[in-house]
Amino acid sequence: MATDSYDLAVCEIRDEFGARVKVERVSGDLGRVVENGPSIEELAAACNDGRIAFIRHLTTELGSFGVSEVPPAHELVELILAELPRHPQALAVQTWTDGASSGGSYYHLLEGPLSERGIEVGRAGHEYVVSCFASKKNVLIGLNRLDLSLSDWPGGRMRLARSDDRVSRSEFKLEEAIETFALDLPSGGKALDLGASPGGWTRILRQHGQEVWSVDPGDLDRRVSADRGVHHVNTTAGEFFRRNQTRFDVVVNDMRMDQILSARVMLDAIPHLHRDALAVVTFKGGGRNPLDAPRRAMDVLRKNYTIQAARQLHHNRNELTVIARAR
Ligand SMILES: C[S@@+](CC[C@H](N)C(=O)[O-])C[C@H]1O[C@@H](n2cnc3c(N)ncnc32)[C@H](O)[C@@H]1O
Repeated sequence: MATDSYDLAVCEIRDEFGARVKVERVSGDLGRVVENGPSIEELAAACNDGRIAFIRHLTTELGSFGVSEVPPAHELVELILAELPRHPQALAVQTWTDGASSGGSYYHLLEGPLSERGIEVGRAGHEYVVSCFASKKNVLIGLNRLDLSLSDWPGGRMRLARSDDRVSRSEFKLEEAIETFALDLPSGGKALDLGASPGGWTRILRQHGQEVWSVDPGDLDRRVSADRGVHHVNTTAGEFFRRNQTRFDVVVNDMRMDQILSARVMLDAIPHLHRDALAVVTFKGGGRNPLDAPRRAMDVLRKNYTIQAARQLHHNRNELTVIARAR
């Protein structure tokens, strides 16, 4: 979970599983469920269907050690292997810290003895994930099935390549959503990008084979507007809907706007969408009711959409990304 959202995540867990659940803070964005908690399957299910939005990564703790008391690597490996139902052919090892360092040394520490046991070690893409969080004081080792981990990145911190082609930081949010939720954009589809300027999401949609209608009174970066598969409609979403005749397979909405209003705009989009059209929306959060407002916005959305996921992704700041299908 993001540091600012730690308390929100704890509230969500208690709302979902009862006020007796006790969570203690391990570091800035890392918490540990210590008493009366749900099973990891129940917790993952609540996160995967959007009931809990402010958690990004899950693991089951195998051990926590003071930095000077970390057992030798081969003992850690025994600890990990003892928890697995069978000897694995491969394991992902994901390490992170609360400081500037990458935590990479623990990856290399575990890699050697795991390889000696005939286990291929990678950073992602395996059925089981070893999580290793290192702070200045403690090292925590966890293990979880990938399908219950929420993300295949260390602590849910997806890293995407920076490049000169990028036109906005917002691009990362859509890329992360597409990867995290394995979104399938229809090949040759028509996509509507609401709040498109300067064109980062439009660029990503183009990379995924969409013809894009980019609606925003603001300008698009020249590299985006020069693309013949992009139609910049230089107006507001409301005005666009009054004139539009096209039906879309995908709608994305990154508009800077109050969450409820943004959800209402999504309802206005419905007559312009094919049934089952994919929707990706960011609800800008914060304010006095940081949990309540996105919940109300999602209730508005539910009138005409089926919500498939809602999560504060690594590249979201003070906002949630919601994935839904038009009904
Ligand atoms: C965070 S920016 C979008 C960034 C964009 N997704 C990208 O990747 O480049 C938010 C945009 O919402 C637009 N916006 C706000 N209200 C709008 C409305 N009613 N209709 C269309 N766009 C709107 C703003 O003009 C602004 O460009």
